[in-house]
Amino acid sequence: MDLRKVINVFLAFVAIILSSCATSNAQLQVGFYNRSCPLAESIVKEEVLKALYDDPGLAAGLVRLHFHDAFVRGADGSVLIDSTSNNTAEKDAPPNNPSLRGFEIIDAAKSRLETECKGIVSCADILAFAARDSVLYSMGLPYAVPSGRRDGRVSLASEAMSNLPPPFFNITQLTQIFNGKGLSQEEMITLSGAHTIGRSHCSSFSNRLYNFNSIVSQDPSLDPSYAEQLKTQCPNGSTNASIVVPMDPNTPTKFDSNYYKLILANRGLFTSDQTLMSTPETKKQVQVNAYVPLYFQLKFRDAFVKLGKIGVLTGNQGEIRINCRVINS
Ligand code: HEM
Ligand SMILES: *[C@@H]1O[C@H](CO)[C@@H](O)[C@H](O)[C@H]1NC(C)=O
Ligand SMILES: *[C@@H]1O[C@H](CO)[C@@H](O)[C@H](O)[C@H]1NC(C)=O
Ligand SMILES: *[C@@H]1O[C@H](CO)[C@@H](O)[C@H](O)[C@H]1NC(C)=O
Ligand SMILES: *[C@@H]1O[C@H](CO)[C@@H](O)[C@H](O)[C@H]1NC(C)=O
Ligand SMILES: *[C@@H]1O[C@H](CO)[C@@H](O)[C@H](O)[C@H]1NC(C)=O
Repeated sequence: MDLRKVINVFLAFVAIILSSCATSNAQLQVGFYNRSCPLAESIVKEEVLKALYDDPGLAAGLVRLHFHDAFVRGADGSVLIDSTSNNTAEKDAPPNNPSLRGFEIIDAAKSRLETECKGIVSCADILAFAARDSVLYSMGLPYAVPSGRRDGRVSLASEAMSNLPPPFFNITQLTQIFNGKGLSQEEMITLSGAHTIGRSHCSSFSNRLYNFNSIVSQDPSLDPSYAEQLKTQCPNGSTNASIVVPMDPNTPTKFDSNYYKLILANRGLFTSDQTLMSTPETKKQVQVNAYVPLYFQLKFRDAFVKLGKIGVLTGNQGEIRINCRVINS
């Protein structure tokens, strides 16, 4: 081997070692705050439990917050940033405002953590922990949250508009938007199971009741008696933002398989829910998730952890925000 070859081999090794350092840096770790802020996860849990004790519905709010954070610029806490005079932030885009909720819980946890261990725990991680605690509080399965996320410094309403799936999407469109985030169709179907808790405003489904298409005013895939009931709750043309409807009227605060049972009964609230019945393969998954609850729970846990890893900032990327609503100056 001549010297040039030896040098090349050496350089190749250096490159491999450097890049593996970079990747191990870039990985989230369970217990990231073990040494730097050992009480981090228990402080978040305390604040979440305190809030959910008063209003169990907020568990759904926190789960959705984590999803909306992850789909827009990755799970970097960008959904928590407030708009300013020169920037309309993600949280003020129509898919988020006025429906997104739970921000005060993140603020409460952050303010305690800044007292306990200043500048250590990211807002993105607080949100990931809070979403996990919410699933557990709602009787989903417990799981460990890989952490070490850092906070982003950009939050744009326009990106929330283009990255979040709207409730009128069909199976093809949903699959495509989830694939674009590195999630499979099966993971999409599994994650949609989060609609077993929480609520919706009328505007997310009233087209299915009143203006479906040029031929029929009502969506034929919606159970007619459920449609009648929804019509009494959501009158045609109502823009009253304080009217909300549970997505799983039977067990609205329980993280169970009932969402899939509703779909089997043509009682999925959104087009994006009922469309999971539209191919033989996806329909089969709805049936399995409905009737093998533990299988659904296990798949949900894995898919939700994966969702929490989308586009994360790690190492020395981004920052640790002092106030989750404001980019550090
Ligand atoms: C598959 C595509 C999805 C669409 C089209 C969609 C759409 C929506 C819409 C329109 C609402 C109601 C907003 C309102 O009007 O108040 C909602 C609520 C909710 N979504 Fe989704 N969603 C999807 C996936 C997910 C995923 C992946 C999760 C989490 C894993 C999730 C969790 C929730 C929760 C928990 C609520 C209730 C929020 C509350 O009660 O405050 N959704 N979703
Ligand atoms: C933190 O501690 C837990 C429990 O002992 C352990 O499972 C985890 O691997 C630790 N993580 C780190 C990054 O030290
Ligand atoms: C808005 O203004 C602040 C302070 O003047 C500046 O730091 C920030 O970069 C601006 N943001 C955008 C999105 O232009
Ligand atoms: C889904 O919607 C898109 C866009 O409107 C349309 O092109 C496509 O044919 C629809 N797919 C199904 C399966 O309905
Ligand atoms: C609901 O209201 C819209 C707009 O006002 C109207 O076009 C539509 O025909 C109404 N639908 C029904 C079923 O009354
Ligand atoms: C909007 O709905 C809420 C809750 O149902 C109700 O209390 C309120 O009176 C309604 N407001 C208007 C303007 O209709």
